[in-house]
Amino acid sequence: MFPWGLSCLSVLGAAGTALLCAGLLLSLAQHLWTLRWTLSRDRASALPLPKGSMGWPFFGETLHWLVQGSRFHSSRRERYGTVFKTHLLGRPVIRVSGAENVRTILLGEHRLVRSQWPQSAHILLGSHTLIGSVGEPHRQRRKVLARAFSRAALQRFVPRLQGVLRREVRSWCAARRPVAVYQASKALTFRMAARILLGLRLDDAQCAELARTFEQFVENLFSLPLDVPFSGLRKGIRARDQLHRYLEEAIAEKLHEDKAAELSDALDMIIHSTRELGHELSVQELKETAVELLFAAFLTTASASTSLVLLLLQHPAAVAKIRQELAVQGLGRACGCAPGAAGGGTGPRPDCGCEPDLSLAALGRLRYIDCVVKEVLRLLPPVSGGYRTALRTFELDGYQIPKGWSVMYSIRDTHETAAVYGSPPEGFDPERFGAAGEESRGACGRFHYIPFGGGARSCLGQELAQAVLQLLAVELVRTARWELATPAFPAMQTVPIVHPVDGLRLFFHPLAPSAAARDGLRL
Ligand code: HEM
Repeated sequence: MFPWGLSCLSVLGAAGTALLCAGLLLSLAQHLWTLRWTLSRDRASALPLPKGSMGWPFFGETLHWLVQGSRFHSSRRERYGTVFKTHLLGRPVIRVSGAENVRTILLGEHRLVRSQWPQSAHILLGSHTLIGSVGEPHRQRRKVLARAFSRAALQRFVPRLQGVLRREVRSWCAARRPVAVYQASKALTFRMAARILLGLRLDDAQCAELARTFEQFVENLFSLPLDVPFSGLRKGIRARDQLHRYLEEAIAEKLHEDKAAELSDALDMIIHSTRELGHELSVQELKETAVELLFAAFLTTASASTSLVLLLLQHPAAVAKIRQELAVQGLGRACGCAPGAAGGGTGPRPDCGCEPDLSLAALGRLRYIDCVVKEVLRLLPPVSGGYRTALRTFELDGYQIPKGWSVMYSIRDTHETAAVYGSPPEGFDPERFGAAGEESRGACGRFHYIPFGGGARSCLGQELAQAVLQLLAVELVRTARWELATPAFPAMQTVPIVHPVDGLRLFFHPLAPSAAARDGLRL
């Protein structure tokens, strides 16, 4: 008994010593790791590095971030302030929020910072993209693409967008089972982008197949830059090549047609405007541009559409106000035609022609719907922020941002902490974007609200995306009511983009024309 107890004690002692040594080694490694980053400050600048922890050697704070989710950033923001350093996914990052700081980053594009994307995204998207270009080439490319997103272009897109959205809402109402809204919105966004932006003539089966390939491409856009069998990058390259093969044929057709008189989609407009400017794009450049636009529009618009449906369901008072606005503008009238087969036999025919089409000008008069869309994008911004690389050491909020470090401007944190609105930032209140709210936002006003970024790299598709969301709100409220198909509202997930964990499963029902009209009048 005694010797057994003794050997037990010595084993425990040895284990304790080993643990102590491991602890000391770990602590030493951590100190050296912290020192390594402290020494990497730019000594030519007298300013300190931002506060914050670089976490564990090599892993940095990646594990903390994975475990804590969005709480990771808010807890560090509370502890260290609106500019703090951390180490994520193998890189030192300075995270920045707050209108004043974000303004410096966004207006410092090409001068203080340049945009930063993972290597895999550069490989997969190609070398002729807007997001990959810097300085003068970026400015030139943006000028060409901007024409395809001008007001005149949008004017042409709106009726077709409305047609596609109307059909979609009707099909949701005709489904006799729950609709997974996020998945349906992804399919819808792809269809709108492929047909209306790129002018692809696809039947439903082709569209679904191309959408699957495209989703595989997007899923692998952020992967390790290793082109080996079964790797994410290899899968992404295969999907990209398939998309390019398809696009090559469609682009060749476009290039042979002389459509100067009738430019109906964004790709036509890009081809035409580069011809006018005297530097025609090659087929490779056009393929890469097409895929880049699909990528920029796809998850962002699908996420925002899902959030719109969700937040309207959670706030029936906003639905009532939208209905009132539609009625006042003479748009609340739901179709009284006999049900048609295209809608599954239960609702009005999608193409009966007696529901008013909206022009861009009419859409512009729907002030409350505009506020609702803005509020959805404020509360649940699809893009959480953007990455930049410091081109030189500069000052931000009393700290140095050393040359070469990554900077992430945070859209979500900036929205969460903006204390410039009449009501608390955490609530859903479209009225905050009403006329009264505009005045209280002050000089940095536009940088308190940045769902589409800002400065030289602000979103090119902003007007288009807002029009899609406004049209979706109109079609939904005018023709449908919707309810949860699950016992409770789903939690939200933020990676790769904000969306409900279960995709948001809802039942949609067609609104009887008389009920819509009565509701419109009563409100
Ligand atoms: C609700 C939907 C959308 C949201 C929330 C959104 C958000 C954003 C944000 C935050 C940026 C800036 C990223 C950065 O600073 O690094 C951006 C850039 C961009 N967006 Fe959007 N976007 C949306 C829809 C669209 C659509 C529909 C298109 C076009 C079809 C589009 C095209 C682009 C392009 C081309 C850029 C890159 C601009 C540049 O680098 O110069 N976006 N978007």
